[in-house]
Amino acid sequence: MPKARFVGGMALSALAAAGCGLFPASSKPDVVVPANPTMIRYVDPSAVDGLVTMTMTEGEESPRRVHISYPRLKDAPVMNEALRTEAERQLLGFHAATEAARPAAASRSQADGSLKGDDTQEDGGDGDGGAQDAGRPDMGGADGARPGATDVDETAVRRGIGARPELNVDWQLVAASPAVFGVRLRTGRHVGVDWGRSSRTLWYDRTRDRATGSSGLLSGQAALQELARLVREGLAGRGAAVERDRVTADPALFDSMAFNLNGDLVVEFDDCQIGSCALGRVAVAVPAERAGTLLSATGHRAQYSPRAAGRTYLPGMSEVWPEVDAPSGGAGAPAGADGTVAVPEAGAPGAAAPDTNTPDTSTSDTSTSGEGASEQVDCAEVKCVALTFDDGPGPETPRLLDMLRGLGARATFFTVGANAAADPWLLGRMAAEGHEVGNHSWAHRDLSRLSTSKIADSLGRTQELIKAHTGQAPTLARAPYGVESEEVRDTARRLGLTLVGWDVNTVGSAETVGVATAGRPGAETIARRAVEGAHDGAVILLHDTCGTAVDAVPAIVEGLRGKGYALVTVGELYGEPGSRTEHAEGSGGNAAAGGP
Ligand code: NI
Repeated sequence: MPKARFVGGMALSALAAAGCGLFPASSKPDVVVPANPTMIRYVDPSAVDGLVTMTMTEGEESPRRVHISYPRLKDAPVMNEALRTEAERQLLGFHAATEAARPAAASRSQADGSLKGDDTQEDGGDGDGGAQDAGRPDMGGADGARPGATDVDETAVRRGIGARPELNVDWQLVAASPAVFGVRLRTGRHVGVDWGRSSRTLWYDRTRDRATGSSGLLSGQAALQELARLVREGLAGRGAAVERDRVTADPALFDSMAFNLNGDLVVEFDDCQIGSCALGRVAVAVPAERAGTLLSATGHRAQYSPRAAGRTYLPGMSEVWPEVDAPSGGAGAPAGADGTVAVPEAGAPGAAAPDTNTPDTSTSDTSTSGEGASEQVDCAEVKCVALTFDDGPGPETPRLLDMLRGLGARATFFTVGANAAADPWLLGRMAAEGHEVGNHSWAHRDLSRLSTSKIADSLGRTQELIKAHTGQAPTLARAPYGVESEEVRDTARRLGLTLVGWDVNTVGSAETVGVATAGRPGAETIARRAVEGAHDGAVILLHDTCGTAVDAVPAIVEGLRGKGYALVTVGELYGEPGSRTEHAEGSGGNAAAGGP
């Protein structure tokens, strides 16, 4: 185990050297990207017209924490359906896994069995179903070098944080040309022991109106066999921790493939799939010419699309593969014979984190409520409540903003950075219309499970995005799922952020937001919970990712006003910016602690 960890640490620092999303500035088309040809350049989603982020969540009061996001493309219903289906598959697989794992977290074989059952359903993409789940550390496929599940669980439970199973799926665009789209879904699952991390890349060929898994990039089974051989070759020299023999011509192993800027085919493997679970991300770049002989028509259309569309990309990727106890130290990753390297995507602590020591508080006095200043209410004199909308922006957010404008009501948006990045101009609209924009982390992971540097990265990157589009850095944040730890609070404070919880939750236990389930509350239920639960000074939790919550807003506003409440932002509820911190801290802390 210590040895495996060390290998992981070495690979980790190699990624930091490679940039952790800071792509080397080599723009010469024929220059092989130095050191890390397995790096995929992500297309900036805000540059893609009509793209919105869809979200499925479950969590604040649920025994599970779920946050799944995926894009919805304009004019590509076939691809959108494939993405939605994959998101639901992951959600259902997680439900099955957690239900099986919860009563006996230590029972690895039992958990494995449940996943195999899950594997039998569906797919149709590249024909694997759920083999990506096989052998993952969270479900007990660990190679025996890990600590017992019960030890870790008990510790987590004692700490009172990070004890609930968590599923987090986010996404990147790996290609966006007129002919093809590539969407990489990146999954972190935490069930009992540790994070299990996997990725799955779906492709859309617009010329054929066809969605496919990654194996659809290949011309057939013979191509897959040859690719498996090339990958085994590429893995030579990676050390004993990589088990090359596990690389067979199984489409399930090749469910996440994309291209780098040179047209090399980048094949990436999930945790534990072809070796020690401590390896981090293992990927192989097959040179463009050799890959070219293996590609299908769709594959050929995709091969050079990243270069064609590769203008901008999202900064940083370090929240992606979270390291709960990120190893440090080491120097350089073992390089493969052809220059490929095995690297995890997580950055070394602090490697790509924004400067967290210089929170910008200089502009915090420029209240977001500038426009609404004339209608400012004194919450010492009248009863006030604050509506808060979490997890967006999403497709329903513009409708919500229209609605709030029509009602003359202000609210507070706790936005997820990765969602906002797809349509960041909405942040500017929120601020301009008198709403307060708060920070809800970059990818909605349970921050209490992350290292301090990753917490800083997640909150800091979101701060920067919001500041860039609203003109001011937020002063309020809400921890995903309301889960706060000392580290989360301290890190937020260093960024000039006060954590805010809630007093009234309109979504009950095990109710999933953003996906059709029988238990999802309707607009009337949401409105009733909000209005009946309100009291003077209450912070009400809603989600702008949820259409029924948006539907409920007119009734909520009417009901609250009928009871004599003024609707204000959270900042206004807590008074002037100068005194906001103290008040918010007490209230937010209590509210959050009493929540999940
Ligand atoms: Ni949330």
